Amino acid sequence: TPKILRRLDDLRALRRDWIRNGESLALVPTMGALHAGHLSLVEAARAACDHVVVTIFVNPKQFNNPQDLASYPRTEVEDAAKLAPYGVDAIYVPDPDQMYPDGYATTVSVTGVTEVMDGPNRPGHFDGVATVVAKLFLQSGADKAFFGEKDYQQLLVVKRMVRDLNIPIEVIGCPTVREASGLALSSRNLRLSAQARDTAGALNRMMETAAEQLRAGAAWDPLQAGMRDALVQAGFSEVEYIDLRSATNLSEQTGPETATRIFVAAWLDGVRLIDNIAV
Ligand code: PAJ
Repeated sequence: TPKILRRLDDLRALRRDWIRNGESLALVPTMGALHAGHLSLVEAARAACDHVVVTIFVNPKQFNNPQDLASYPRTEVEDAAKLAPYGVDAIYVPDPDQMYPDGYATTVSVTGVTEVMDGPNRPGHFDGVATVVAKLFLQSGADKAFFGEKDYQQLLVVKRMVRDLNIPIEVIGCPTVREASGLALSSRNLRLSAQARDTAGALNRMMETAAEQLRAGAAWDPLQAGMRDALVQAGFSEVEYIDLRSATNLSEQTGPETATRIFVAAWLDGVRLIDNIAV
């Protein structure tokens, strides 16, 4: 299995050697509990650079819900085994003091794309994400970093931050990996009952149907209302949002004229599910 680094100095030492040899580094930031979605990012990273470092850090600053943080799966040994076949150079699993030592006082906060959808619904979440991702970029000095479109708003937040702060890294978005049912793979799916997993698949199928109808000229408002009813009917307990938005700046859209995506957040079985697709 790949070697595990727990100290920033060890990561920096590796990076120094690679830079001396003119070799590039791709970074894949994760919170562990790795699944095929994460592994698809690792494959893309492998193809793009000479070296790959996967990071695993369950970042307390991005959890707006203490219960969610406490119950987040931690499976380091299994994660290392899953990465073994992928030719990863190292797994960076920073000790908490490597990220947030005593007296830590700095937050990276992105406006604009954080002001809709998961921004207001998860207070503090994107500040936590931007802060930890900025640190991982600066700690690793990676050339490229790979993120999933599964968390599309997060991808846009990270891209905005990199541009605004002139962090010399290229951020690359990769397609969402799904189960046969359409359910987007997520570490939080582990908390769904078998029955809820079936229900969860319905979410993506409804989104695909709505996208088809939009392309055929249907109006968004009735599609949105119909999807809301259908989700509650299917057993979802709460629908946070069903939005049609620009794929570049998340401004609200009424039709598929420009590059547009459908975004949904809804609760099932005590688990918050998010998904998004291109129209
Ligand atoms: P985590 O949820 O572990 O996800 C790590 C990366 O895997 C993210 O870029 C996410 O978008 C991607 N990913 C998750 N499920 C996916 C799927 N089904 N298909 C494709 N990619 C998928 O996102 C985070 O961690 C954290 O916020 C992090 C960026 C690591 C900062 O702490």
